[in-house]
Amino acid sequence: MKIVAIIGARPQFIKHFPFELACRGKVELMTIHTGQHYDTNMSDVFFNQLKMTQPSYTLHIGSGAHGAQTGKMMIEIEKIVNDITPDGVVVYGDTNSTLAGALVASKLHIPLFHIEAGLRSFNKKMPEEVNRILTDHISDLLFVPSAIGVQNLKNEGVELGVSEVGDIMKDLVQYVIANDLLKSHRPNENDFFYTTIHRPYNTDGKERLKYILEALNQLRKKVVFSLHPRTRNLAHNYDLNLEDYTNIKFIEPQSYFSNLAYLQCSAGLITDSGGMQKEAYWLKKKCVTIRKETEWKETLNNSANILLFDDLSGLGKELQNVPVGWDKTLYGHGKSASEMVDKIIHFLK
Ligand code: UD1
Repeated sequence: MKIVAIIGARPQFIKHFPFELACRGKVELMTIHTGQHYDTNMSDVFFNQLKMTQPSYTLHIGSGAHGAQTGKMMIEIEKIVNDITPDGVVVYGDTNSTLAGALVASKLHIPLFHIEAGLRSFNKKMPEEVNRILTDHISDLLFVPSAIGVQNLKNEGVELGVSEVGDIMKDLVQYVIANDLLKSHRPNENDFFYTTIHRPYNTDGKERLKYILEALNQLRKKVVFSLHPRTRNLAHNYDLNLEDYTNIKFIEPQSYFSNLAYLQCSAGLITDSGGMQKEAYWLKKKCVTIRKETEWKETLNNSANILLFDDLSGLGKELQNVPVGWDKTLYGHGKSASEMVDKIIHFLK
């Protein structure tokens, strides 16, 4: 049995690692890296640090307008898939690489397995929302992290092949904590908030990005901001001088372990990332999400995660308000990858 996984963007390398481990000795796994993320600290660092198998194919598609980027990926993925004739294709999450892989598999009538299915923000202006809806509707097996995701799919008439298996990122976080792997990655900082901001609605406009930076700059604690290249490039294009924000320490995108170590040592997280809202929850860190909505609605329970968007004046106050209870079972028990692999094998038999 041979399956091929499509990866391309930073969060997909992380999700792929537990899946690769779970496939060992059970199923032959090949990978196609689209090259959507290509900087060393957005891609190679994850393969090296997690000691993952290098991709079987790397496409070097790089950045571009959505249509061009997705189209170029499809052209190249199709050639490879035709060549290697896998029994199934695995895609992760909601990026343009996800959609490109899903469309190719579906058109070639190859079984398609979607990891992290069923999530919805109900905001179709997000490219991710379009990518995940389309991918879900053409997938044969849909691996969903939570009951809300299962219900979302049901509401859209998708029930066949759906299973709630928990979140694959939790597998990895639990493994890291159980083996104390963050110890040597702890930062030399204390008493700080950790930040990542990269979504288009927070960065694709000078006034918006400036407003967020000003809000961070006014917080009572220092802010450590891990800067996605998209945010860095846009700040540069807008002539925003990052050195003017003296309360913010800007750092390069971090490796998997360093990023989690920063989060673990922080006094709270300010983010617009999807994955980091969950990681904050599992590490019991207060999170403020700079968005109008979240796909990870369960993290809002007990105010562990708070949404703020138009008015950021309450940011400092919200960060202080740390919840007392955390649901240990949120998004599964950290064994989702092996459950998915077993279900895939059963499906293909
Ligand atoms: C993509 C995903 C998003 C995910 C994010 C994780 C889509 C539509 N979006 O967003 O869901 O949360 O990855 O990081 O697929 N760039 C570099 N070097 C890189 C990668 C990107 O400089 O290695 C810069 C380029 O200027 C590029 C911009 O970042 O144009 C945006 O990259 P892109 O992959 O298009 O989208 P992300 O914002 O990273």
